[in-house]
Amino acid sequence: MATLWHGRFGETDPAASLLDYTVSLDYDKRLALDDIAGSKAHVAGLVIAGIVSGDDGLIMQAALDRVREEVETSRLEFHDGEEDIHTVVERRVTELAGRAGAQLHAGRSRNDQVATDLRLFTKRELRGVARRVLHLQRVLLRRAVEAGDAYLPGYTHLQRAQPVLLAHHLLAHGWAFARDVERLEDARKRVDVSPLGAGALAGSSLPLDPDRTAALLGFSRRFDNSLDAVSDRDFVAESLFSLSMLGVHMSRLGEEIVLWSSEEFGFVQLADAYSTGSSMLPQKKNPDIAELARGRSGRLIGGLAGFLATLKGLPLSYNRDLQEDKEPLFDALDQTNRGLSALAGLVDTATWNLARMKSAADTPFAAAVDLAEWLVAAGTPFREAHSIVGALVRDAMQRHVPLDELVEAHPSLGADAVALLEPGTAVLRRTTPGGAGPGPVKEQLEDFAALVARNESEIGDDAAD
Ligand code: ARG
Repeated sequence: MATLWHGRFGETDPAASLLDYTVSLDYDKRLALDDIAGSKAHVAGLVIAGIVSGDDGLIMQAALDRVREEVETSRLEFHDGEEDIHTVVERRVTELAGRAGAQLHAGRSRNDQVATDLRLFTKRELRGVARRVLHLQRVLLRRAVEAGDAYLPGYTHLQRAQPVLLAHHLLAHGWAFARDVERLEDARKRVDVSPLGAGALAGSSLPLDPDRTAALLGFSRRFDNSLDAVSDRDFVAESLFSLSMLGVHMSRLGEEIVLWSSEEFGFVQLADAYSTGSSMLPQKKNPDIAELARGRSGRLIGGLAGFLATLKGLPLSYNRDLQEDKEPLFDALDQTNRGLSALAGLVDTATWNLARMKSAADTPFAAAVDLAEWLVAAGTPFREAHSIVGALVRDAMQRHVPLDELVEAHPSLGADAVALLEPGTAVLRRTTPGGAGPGPVKEQLEDFAALVARNESEIGDDAAD
């Protein structure tokens, strides 16, 4: 069997168990098109440097184009024992281009090659995820606008605390996703560095021009240090973190949908197309997408933690351990992309039960802080006001007397204060910037819409790309 190193090892074939354990082709075949793009830039560099003749360069470029077509039409064949996609592409180019093809790997190692491939891949994929997040933000925005003045209880400690507009609640998730978009784009800047030309670890004796190949590949710049270039996988760890954080945000949204769709809350009804049933219980309608958005985030966190552990003890420079970068990254990207599409569909088609939200929010106790703040406005120190209202609430609960009667009878409160307990009043009183009432939420909706539109124009909104 022809390995890439058969000269050094003579006729001895690799042991079957070695191949079985070390082969990465099953998953790194996903880098095929990026490997070909990297190789095309490398060939161009070899020609510019005068290492490969112009004619041979053309033959090699044509062979690489042909391999690309084979990949695109799923016709590229793998041979038994081939270790990785780099081996396959080089073997195929050599088959097609003969002696010219044998020059492909001059001045290059799989170490700078794989790092180049993975950076090209990650750069594109992070953008794709950001676009999907933008799509979900669009859906949240549309649902928030359409929610108008509807309100529901806001919770702390999962106890009803104060009423908030539904739009405000939906946008709370929207803003978290905005930070995810920012994080993905920021991580992408550090991915955007070409390692090509670093060779195995030390650069090359051939007159290669890494700046030139970086530009050909659309990277913003080249590496600064060849040892770092072949061993740096921060970009993978950082991508995994950005995806994990996004996964955690998707999980929180999922958890709320699970709660809200329960009979106990009854705040939302999910569309049939985005719900599942039970194999045994005919009455059931289950929020499986939301549960998996919650559950799968565990797997992303695991991928991140595992990969950081892989990195932590590695001496410079390339070590085969680094091959462990791909599977968690591919998995995190796949799961995140699927989850984002499914969650967007779920939120887009859900029906809010606004009456149920309203009645849950309309308990007079939800306005307790408004009573205290009313006293504050009339000159009572807050701690005293808090204690006056707290005592009224306790009294109302213990003696089963309506709170408004006690408020009306209280010498410092009275009939004017009772108006604060009217259903729907408390949420109107949240007037401070960024707060949960209609005034600040209107502004917030405008800011959020502007941010989403700006991001869409900068990074595109084609979720499918
Ligand atoms: N499959 C390897 C990886 O993903 C490719 C680089 C192999 N380099 C080597 N020196 N064995 O890292």
